[in-house]
Amino acid sequence: MVFLAVYMLAAGLSIAVVASVSRQTNEVIQTLSRSHETFSNFVFGEVFEVQKALSAFHELVAPIDEGETLEALKRRVERATSPMINYLPGVINNRQPIIEAMILEDPLGVKLRFAEIGAALGAHEVVLSAMVRGLAGETDRSQAIEKFRDIRRISTEIEKDLAELNHLYSQIYSLLASRINADIEEGQRKVRFLGNLLMVVFGLIVGGAIMFFLYDRRIQRVRERRHEHARQRLQDMVELRRTDLEVAEDRLRLILENIGEGILAVNREGRVLMVNPAAARLLGFETPKLVLGRDAHPFIFGGSEPGDGKPPPDSALSRTLRHGSRVRVEQATFYTVSRLPIEVAYETYPLRREGKISGAVLHFVDLSDWVKRQSQMIQIQKMDALGTLAGGIAHDFNNMLTPILALSQLSLRSVPESDRLHLRLEKIIQAAQRAKDLANRILTFSRQSNLQVSHQPFDISLVVRESVGLLQSTLPSSMTLNVSIHPECGTVLGNASQIQSVLMNLCSNAADAMEGHAGVLTISLKPLSARPRTLTPHPRGGRYAELSVIDNGKGMDENTIKLIFNPFFTTKEVGRGTGLGLSMAHGIIHEHGGDITVESKPGKGSTFRVFLPLMRKERVKSAKLKE
Ligand SMILES: Nc1ncnc2c1ncn2[C@@H]1O[C@H](COP(=O)(O)OP(=O)(O)OP(=O)(O)O)[C@@H](O)[C@H]1O
Ligand SMILES: [Mg+2]
Repeated sequence: MVFLAVYMLAAGLSIAVVASVSRQTNEVIQTLSRSHETFSNFVFGEVFEVQKALSAFHELVAPIDEGETLEALKRRVERATSPMINYLPGVINNRQPIIEAMILEDPLGVKLRFAEIGAALGAHEVVLSAMVRGLAGETDRSQAIEKFRDIRRISTEIEKDLAELNHLYSQIYSLLASRINADIEEGQRKVRFLGNLLMVVFGLIVGGAIMFFLYDRRIQRVRERRHEHARQRLQDMVELRRTDLEVAEDRLRLILENIGEGILAVNREGRVLMVNPAAARLLGFETPKLVLGRDAHPFIFGGSEPGDGKPPPDSALSRTLRHGSRVRVEQATFYTVSRLPIEVAYETYPLRREGKISGAVLHFVDLSDWVKRQSQMIQIQKMDALGTLAGGIAHDFNNMLTPILALSQLSLRSVPESDRLHLRLEKIIQAAQRAKDLANRILTFSRQSNLQVSHQPFDISLVVRESVGLLQSTLPSSMTLNVSIHPECGTVLGNASQIQSVLMNLCSNAADAMEGHAGVLTISLKPLSARPRTLTPHPRGGRYAELSVIDNGKGMDENTIKLIFNPFFTTKEVGRGTGLGLSMAHGIIHEHGGDITVESKPGKGSTFRVFLPLMRKERVKSAKLKE
């Protein structure tokens, strides 16, 4: 736009200059035309006057009338010559300097000729004056007529000179006229040229402005098209990038959703920024959404209230948040939302934003199964080793006992009852019998791990009810038995007599714990649907039969609890307990895919719980069909 304004200004200036120059040139032309007119008036006016006088003179000095008197002739001459004599000197003398000034260059030699004619006219005027005076003084008519004829001759010469003068004037006039015309033409040509030039300049300027305007619009359009094109390309690129990002994000989301390991991102304050479904599940939530924004510390460090479990300064999370280091923890305990412990291995990574640590990512793996399997393995190995050892000993021991028992029994027959030896032999046989029983139990235990017990579906409610029937007759009468059995608890795949022996063992332990005092034994059986991780013993979740044996006996301290499932661990006096009851129960329940737990406090009684997985109804049906 600025360019356009400059162009328009230049165009305006050009027009003004053209107008001013043409006005000035016109003024010059007009001035020249005026002087031309003045000159022609001046020159020709004078000559015209002289010629007029001369023609009057010629008329007056025309042929003489015979009857004309001398006096009349003299008057005629005087009347005719006096204007001539008046005008003639002025024709030359007065105009001489003007002619000189006007004719600066004299290519035709007009000036000289003009001077010559001037001189001749002057001489004629003198002669004529003398002749007119001579005639005036003449008295003789014939003499006067002679002088009159001389005057006529002179006038003819003056007439010739005037004709030439006239011719000269014409020449000067045409010379001047052509020069003035040339000047005028030159001026007009200059004006035309200047006008044309300015018109060209103006045209160029206007054309340039139009071109510029059109070009500018074209550039504008091209620029707009380019902008549009660039915007389109940018939009395409953004779209492409967005699609790429969406695909990548989708892929990432799929990976995060489908990996079995927990990923949890927290900010510096420990608030959950991101969590994958596996982590949410492990922490006891149904969906990741429920975890977002929560304080993650109680999950990582325990504590009963949110905010309780602040990270210890040397914890992996604190170190990562402080130093940005990546820390690996081989084994630790996390806590579910219902405060149940989960064994995990985890690693912490820093989350950086613009170079600063803005939070941390925890990647954790559930070790519960592994820890459990590990402890089961240890237990199994322990039991295997002890079983093998005890089995070997029990076998030899049994073999050794056989002759002792057989020979003692034989000897007994040959010894009369009155003999003291009879009583002694009886005691030997009793002791050997007990030793044989013990050896057999040890053998049973040692064979158990190798024994392939057949597993069949059985109704757990029925089996427990049967066992309770048996128990009632064997338990001491001082004990009160509370039984609560869900009538249709479900079907367990396993060995019913093994489960029965587990229940018998638990109940006989409970009875022992009463130590002869009146106590209450509670047996309950109920179904239980557990979500994964909500209950420690069964991480997989599902339906279980929960069999509880609760007594209000002497209870156990923590150290005892740790040992009770070990084979041969007993607190009972020698000969009363083998310490195999609970270790066998543990083995049996785990073989059934279940679990056994204990809660006890000294003086407060004990609660043993057995969890046995229940078969799904469809599987029970198909198993029955097979039968
Ligand atoms: N209900 C209970 N109350 C208190 N202590 C118990 C109870 N059940 C078991 N115990 C403790 O656990 C130990 C181990 O029990 P376990 O059944 O394995 O062996 P035992 O009962 O001593 O011997 P066995 O069962 O071979 O006769 C017991 O000696 C006892 O100290
Ligand atoms: Mg026992």
